[in-house]
Amino acid sequence: MKRIPHDPSGEPDPLRALTLDQLRRRTSMKWRTYPADVLPLWVAEMDVPLAEPVVRAVTDALALGDTGYPAGTAYAEALAAFAEKRWGWDDLAVERTAIVPDVMLGIVEMLKLVTGPGDAVIVNSPVYPPFYHFVAHMDRRVVEAPLGADLRIDLDVLEETFRRAVTGGRRAAHLLCSPHNPTGTVHTAEELSAVAALADRHGVRVVVDEIHAPLTAAGAGFVPYLSVPGAENGLSLMSASKAWNLAGLKAALAIAGPAAAADLARLPEEVSHGPSHLGVIAHTAALTDGTAWLDALLTGLDDNRRLLAALLAEHLPDITHRPGEATYLAWLDCRALGLGDDPAEVFLERGRVALNSGIPFGTGGAGHVRLNLATSPEVITEGVRRMAAALN
Ligand SMILES: Cc1ncc(COP(=O)(O)O)c(C=O)c1O
Repeated sequence: MKRIPHDPSGEPDPLRALTLDQLRRRTSMKWRTYPADVLPLWVAEMDVPLAEPVVRAVTDALALGDTGYPAGTAYAEALAAFAEKRWGWDDLAVERTAIVPDVMLGIVEMLKLVTGPGDAVIVNSPVYPPFYHFVAHMDRRVVEAPLGADLRIDLDVLEETFRRAVTGGRRAAHLLCSPHNPTGTVHTAEELSAVAALADRHGVRVVVDEIHAPLTAAGAGFVPYLSVPGAENGLSLMSASKAWNLAGLKAALAIAGPAAAADLARLPEEVSHGPSHLGVIAHTAALTDGTAWLDALLTGLDDNRRLLAALLAEHLPDITHRPGEATYLAWLDCRALGLGDDPAEVFLERGRVALNSGIPFGTGGAGHVRLNLATSPEVITEGVRRMAAALN
């Protein structure tokens, strides 16, 4: 029998629990977009069984026929307790939260509260592609303030972008990704305070996507944006969906800083009709009773980050890679391989391994690929073998 290592929490590593045969029976996007001979290491779904407390909560609800509309503040209370324990943030006020269908739709609603049609929404490219698509779909203009060469926020570029965005008295928002997808950058308290100060100076509102917050690597400390001084008028989106693999169970939370409470209060009542009651139950159970499972996952992801770095050094030394401080995504600079702007296309066609192309991540994405580490060490090893084989 396969030996499954245990982490100190006593939980088995969920990344080693499922076989490829089991995973290929899944019907979600990761497993159904490409033919069966392609190894999928792309979209942000994890190859894990669900945390047992989540399964129990959802199956109990199904057994009871508890499948109506969501009510109450259990999700927000669970997140507030989790935030205090994990990040020492004791100011997540339940009365300044609202449930939203998911993080992206929550972002759209927050941006509607603080900007109007034609206004600029500033993003730090390269960044999660739906930031571009959802913002364009709502008649706002995406304006890039690219990350620096160190993959961290370039405060000078950000300030200049803020200054231009508000010229002529226009409103503008900064859509901040924290931790940052795809680079895995964890913004420090100093960086976040600097962002808040610049936003305040130029009258830009900050909407922060903190969906990857629980997924930090060993030694990296996530800082909630709303916990830093000067961020009182910020709006945050959080969810259990990335850390516990619950994207199919829709529910997320919008959280207002004290000076944004009046904005959040203008959120139309109908937005609360979007989240699913089963989603709320699943996310609440994850945050309340799923922390031992999360710790086992984080240990497994630390192992996988080390494994990927070693495999790349051995088989693909021309790829430049800075292991992320958070998320389960690895951002690989393949420009030295000479495969052009879209190496993902080459890895797919010649290696039969699906990675995300860097191009849709905006400026800074060409010549890069994003690899999903939330799988078994065997699959990562096979993925790198296929990437290397594509070059032969
Ligand atoms: C930064 C970021 N925001 C949002 C999402 C999507 O979240 P949701 O499914 O809750 O809209 C993802 C998914 O990978 C993500 O990486």
